[in-house]
Amino acid sequence: MCGIVAVVGMPGAVGIVLEGLRSLEYRGYDSAGIAWPEDGSFALYRAAGRVADLDKLLADGPGDGREAAIGHTRWATHGPPVEKNAHPQLSHDGVISVVHNGIIDNFATLRDDLVRDGIEFHSDTDTEIVACLIAREYAKPETAGDLVAAVEATVNRLEGTFALAIMAADQPGLVVAARRGSPLAVGLGAGFGMVASDAVPIIPHTRRVVFLDDDQVAVITSGSCEIRKDSRPVDYACTEITWSAEAAQKDGYDHFMRKEIYEQPTVLENMFRNRLRLPPAVDADPEFVMDGIDLPDDYFKGISRIVMLAQGTAYHACMVGRNILERTTKIPSYPEYAADFRYRDPILDPSVLVIAVTQSGETMDTLHAVRLAREAGCKVIAVANVVGSSITREAAGVFYLNCGPEIGVASTKAFTAMIAGLYFLALRMGQIRESIDRSELRRRVHDLLGIGHRLQAVLATDNHIRKLAKKYMNAANFLFLGRGTGWPLAMEGALKMKEVSYIHAEGYDAAEMKHGPIALIDENMPVLVIALKGRRYDKLLGNIQEIKARKGKVIAIASHDDTEIGKLVDDVIPIYAESGIMNSICCAVPLQLLSYHVAVFRGCDVDKPKNLAKSVTVE
Ligand code: G6P
Repeated sequence: MCGIVAVVGMPGAVGIVLEGLRSLEYRGYDSAGIAWPEDGSFALYRAAGRVADLDKLLADGPGDGREAAIGHTRWATHGPPVEKNAHPQLSHDGVISVVHNGIIDNFATLRDDLVRDGIEFHSDTDTEIVACLIAREYAKPETAGDLVAAVEATVNRLEGTFALAIMAADQPGLVVAARRGSPLAVGLGAGFGMVASDAVPIIPHTRRVVFLDDDQVAVITSGSCEIRKDSRPVDYACTEITWSAEAAQKDGYDHFMRKEIYEQPTVLENMFRNRLRLPPAVDADPEFVMDGIDLPDDYFKGISRIVMLAQGTAYHACMVGRNILERTTKIPSYPEYAADFRYRDPILDPSVLVIAVTQSGETMDTLHAVRLAREAGCKVIAVANVVGSSITREAAGVFYLNCGPEIGVASTKAFTAMIAGLYFLALRMGQIRESIDRSELRRRVHDLLGIGHRLQAVLATDNHIRKLAKKYMNAANFLFLGRGTGWPLAMEGALKMKEVSYIHAEGYDAAEMKHGPIALIDENMPVLVIALKGRRYDKLLGNIQEIKARKGKVIAIASHDDTEIGKLVDDVIPIYAESGIMNSICCAVPLQLLSYHVAVFRGCDVDKPKNLAKSVTVE
């Protein structure tokens, strides 16, 4: 968690860092701070709360005219979110200023070492320990004034994860950055340099970005950038970022969440248009563009089992993915919570294909589970959104979702894109393994190419869903039910409701209802049932009857041509989809919209729900 921005060689540095921090608030937003070198020490401003609270402290323009500054927006790990624990943290002698994302596991040992030197601390953070360690090195006669050497000596002693940006008060033209396990990007401009947790704060200023690897140290001045590893300079590659800074703005929508829900037809349509070719001849095979995941066909052969690793919303996408993969490839497939998997001593061997599914590419548990799988010799690929992120660099190939930045903390467009990505991989693997009939493959690819229109039709029901949200906004609890791929969709619907509206919600396989949840049903319990026509439709109608018999209120997501279901239930949301995979993707949209509108009616901070962070880079 946490967002880091540091700049050097940029007139108006303080304003630039503040603007960058605002764009990083999706990474954490419980306190914020900024510092800049001034007369041989640091000017330091920190506030509990959001970057807006920090802005107020700086309203009189104390930072005007600076060319370097270092800032941070925090999501608390060590110590509560109060001013003294906000970053930057200064060293005991005031010479070193540090911003940090991650957790230093051995911080207690390191602190004891500093205490023996008589050093006192002013915060509860592990970051202050890092600042003091660097300052102690910086003051040693043999490294005096060598900030790079002081940082390198310090990071060698750190255990755990970190992305660090560091300045020394007596060297205003220098920023040193280091990473292990937490992301960090360096922006290279004409006469200036930047460091940030990702590229978003950088791209308004330069599109040339270097994504640091683990254990690298970056030395940035206004006119130069050196990347080092093991205390020696190394070669590095610069990425030219193509997506626009505007893509990270709200684009006229009230909230990022709504904007991102509405982006789904375009995101998915583009995904398939760019990646699928369907030659006109009726017996021609579809062609798959395996950009980013261009592995030899043999890679997808001899697989005994597929394990999908994820957390949160991504896990629900994997649950849908299981059905898709098993039907298409005939390989047993298992969604796994990465956090459970990594500590369970899972049984792995080189015939297991692991698919890490992640929007950010930085979720700590998913990253570590991937490393475990690699150590066991498994094949590892990723389905991810953020280019250059840590998990993507662990994988043999990456299916990039290409959704653009997802700023709303509650994941929406990445969820449907993950399902689509897993479907794409399943179809390609089915083609390679000849486990899917050729005409069936053609039919499915044809369906996928039409996804944009179908999603537009679902979005057209937005006003209707808004009215339903108003009707049910005061519910204390919500139950979501589905069967087959409707089950993970129900779980995702419940998660969205909890995340953004703070209404307690549960998502269940409808077949489980009789085993417990039915005890909760009464006239105050709204139950959303995903009841599309298909193999389990009759069973779902049975569940609905059972709910109605107990006076529960039922909202059904139903096929648009289902003229009967309206007689059974209180409210219907029609879905314009026919084939199985379309249904999963299309069903997600009304679930997202319902939570969104309920949250707005209840006055919740939709894009930044309390206690949540967009990317969980700690355990
Ligand atoms: C956090 C986010 C969720 C997300 C989950 C996994 O909990 O708030 O929206 O689903 O992390 O994130 P990932 O980036 O790995 O998909």
